[in-house]
Amino acid sequence: MQPTSYATGNRDRDMEEDAFKGKVALITGSSRGIGRAIALRFARAGADVVVNHSKAGGHSADKAAQVCSEVESLGRGALAVPADISLKSEVKEMFSKAAEHFGRLDYLVLNAARAPFKPAEKLLEREIRQLVDTNLIGNIFCVQQAVPLLEATSGKIVFISSLGSRFYLPSYPLGSMKAAMEALIRDCSESLGPKGISVNAVCSGIVKTDSFRVLRMYMKDIEHIPDDLCVSPEEVADVVLFLCSPAARAVCGETIVVDKGLSNRLYRPAWTAKP
Ligand SMILES: NC(=O)c1ccc[n+]([C@@H]2O[C@H](COP(=O)([O-])OP(=O)(O)OC[C@H]3O[C@@H](n4cnc5c(N)ncnc54)[C@H](OP(=O)(O)O)[C@@H]3O)[C@@H](O)[C@H]2O)c1
Repeated sequence: MQPTSYATGNRDRDMEEDAFKGKVALITGSSRGIGRAIALRFARAGADVVVNHSKAGGHSADKAAQVCSEVESLGRGALAVPADISLKSEVKEMFSKAAEHFGRLDYLVLNAARAPFKPAEKLLEREIRQLVDTNLIGNIFCVQQAVPLLEATSGKIVFISSLGSRFYLPSYPLGSMKAAMEALIRDCSESLGPKGISVNAVCSGIVKTDSFRVLRMYMKDIEHIPDDLCVSPEEVADVVLFLCSPAARAVCGETIVVDKGLSNRLYRPAWTAKP
């Protein structure tokens, strides 16, 4: 009997290859962390990848070049494009370069994020503007530039959200941007659905990336969350790929929580208990 699992069956893997082969995915902020895992997941599934990072040159460009080499070693095309998503002109140029290089765009994953860790009342004016410019306006700039390309391919948009969109986390103003993003997904799903573009999100639990290393300085207890309640970048990437696959064709304007059940727990678990 043929296996039916989406992720493991040979027949399903072949179908996955067919679905993503010759397609192009642009992942914002894919030089490292979750974005990098998503870029590699698309490449393994057969797609070519645009690797976006924030700045030309330096560490950021080195990391993006490394991801491109990994994508190419999987036999897929890769293009690194530095662009700060909070700047409309850079976003515009990024989509032009992607279209010029690959001739099409099928998937847009809005993963890039940057935010200060402070309670909202302590944010400086420039920090508030950076928070909104990068994490809300920047994503809208990307959607606007992507729409003509995605309309031509009946493409898909996946946002990356976090549990801060729905639960209090100390010094995490990014949570309010993620909440706005989850509302935006519903709007975009309705307005872009008639153009054949699907819009959904993955709300990730805790992933031990570079940003986690900063987060743990502000949320002491987060260190004590057992590893089995943390999610790997690859586990987030698998659900992004699912939302871009034909199997998710009936999922519209939804945010799927991928957190190993962490947000399911109302009781005070052992890792926060005082000795
Ligand atoms: N880590 C977690 O526990 C967690 C949990 C839930 C949700 N998430 C979400 O998952 C996404 C990725 O998180 P992560 O932990 O993997 O982040 P990360 O390791 O800090 O990486 C952030 C990525 O975004 C890029 N970036 C930042 N600002 C940008 C800008 N203005 N324009 C373009 N690119 C920009 C960075 O590029 P450079 O290399 O150039 O700086 C980098 O590639 C974020 O949306 C985050 O909110 C993370």
